[in-house]
Amino acid sequence: MSSKRVGVGVIGAGVISRYYLENMTRFPDLDVIAIADLDQERARARAREFGLRPVLVHELLARDDIEIVLNLTVPAAHSDVSSRILVSGKHVWSEKPMATSRRDARLLLDKAGRRGLRVACAPDTFLGGALQTAQRAVMAGRIGEPRSALAIVQSPGPEGSHPDPAFYFDHGGGPLLDMGPYHVTALVQALGAVRRVSALSSTARAVRRVRVGECAGAEFDVRVPTQHMALLEFASGAQATLVTSFDSGIRRDLLELHGTEASLVVPDPNRFEGTGTLVPFHAPAEDVPAVGSTWGRGVGVLDLARSIRGDLPERASGALAYHVLDVLLATEEAARAGTPLTIASTVTPPAPLEESWDPTAATL
Ligand SMILES: NC(=O)c1ccc[n+]([C@@H]2O[C@H](COP(=O)([O-])OP(=O)(O)OC[C@H]3O[C@@H](n4cnc5c(N)ncnc54)[C@H](O)[C@@H]3O)[C@@H](O)[C@H]2O)c1
Repeated sequence: MSSKRVGVGVIGAGVISRYYLENMTRFPDLDVIAIADLDQERARARAREFGLRPVLVHELLARDDIEIVLNLTVPAAHSDVSSRILVSGKHVWSEKPMATSRRDARLLLDKAGRRGLRVACAPDTFLGGALQTAQRAVMAGRIGEPRSALAIVQSPGPEGSHPDPAFYFDHGGGPLLDMGPYHVTALVQALGAVRRVSALSSTARAVRRVRVGECAGAEFDVRVPTQHMALLEFASGAQATLVTSFDSGIRRDLLELHGTEASLVVPDPNRFEGTGTLVPFHAPAEDVPAVGSTWGRGVGVLDLARSIRGDLPERASGALAYHVLDVLLATEEAARAGTPLTIASTVTPPAPLEESWDPTAATL
């Protein structure tokens, strides 16, 4: 088995690619080589910024020195681009959601399995020190037996900060598929697999307007619900309330876990750092500072790379992303059907990282 650094390529040179590249180009175990985009000027600009090769998609997929390809395209393109990456014989790191349907997600996992390849998927925020510390606290019994959770992610919507926001309001987007992966992944990490979901959903406005960038003022259609309220039942017997909304003037990212002995306020599941608060039922609250790496986006790619070299399972696995997608799609479907739905998939939460896990260490 090879022990050399892992060659990485990127497809999709939009907003989020910068956050990945700022980190991944500083991880010695990764060798970030090339970037491609349908919009070649975007790929060239990002390549210049980080000293990469700007290439066309088919050129990137033909390179022998690239083993993992990041798919940072828009949700509607995820399954098609990931499928092409697998056909080229390379492992996939996909932005979320892995696909916009269970069928497409399953096809990807099957295709990868047949070829001995891996499909790993965002979010990797749950590998940050903040959520890892929360997971260790729960596993150490600091809240007693976990019984319930409250997860809320609400905002006026991404059109206030993203220059090209229509994809957030199209199939594969909405607050549920866009923000839900962070909170549901964190819930699964703490409480295990979900077995049933009930939900309500609504759409406040059918048309929205771009608010920043060159296209500011342009209107676009809203094609998905922009608020969801769900009740999740876990296989463990625990229960959670989940609210995801782009229809709120109030911004809130909340995750509380409640056990038989104490509650834990977990830092924002869309961030890698932060301090939690442990609130015992009959004793003073105490801070729970993040222990471990607080490096940001790209740590999941690094864990994938090291797991490939070590022949170990990656933590942000396709199986985890599939279960989270299954729960999110079932939430949409349960709201439409007006009835609770059973979740067919299951997953075992990945083991926590070592506290000493260090992205800047050269291990390969
Ligand atoms: N922007 C954020 O803050 C943010 C945060 C976390 C996750 N994400 C996720 O990252 C993904 C990308 O988001 P973004 O904000 O960078 O979007 P973006 O629109 O800024 O960039 C997407 C890029 O993908 C390219 N693209 C689309 N289809 C393609 C194809 N078939 N082949 C090659 N290139 C293609 C587009 O030309 C564009 O440059 C989405 O899944 C989003 O949910 C974004």
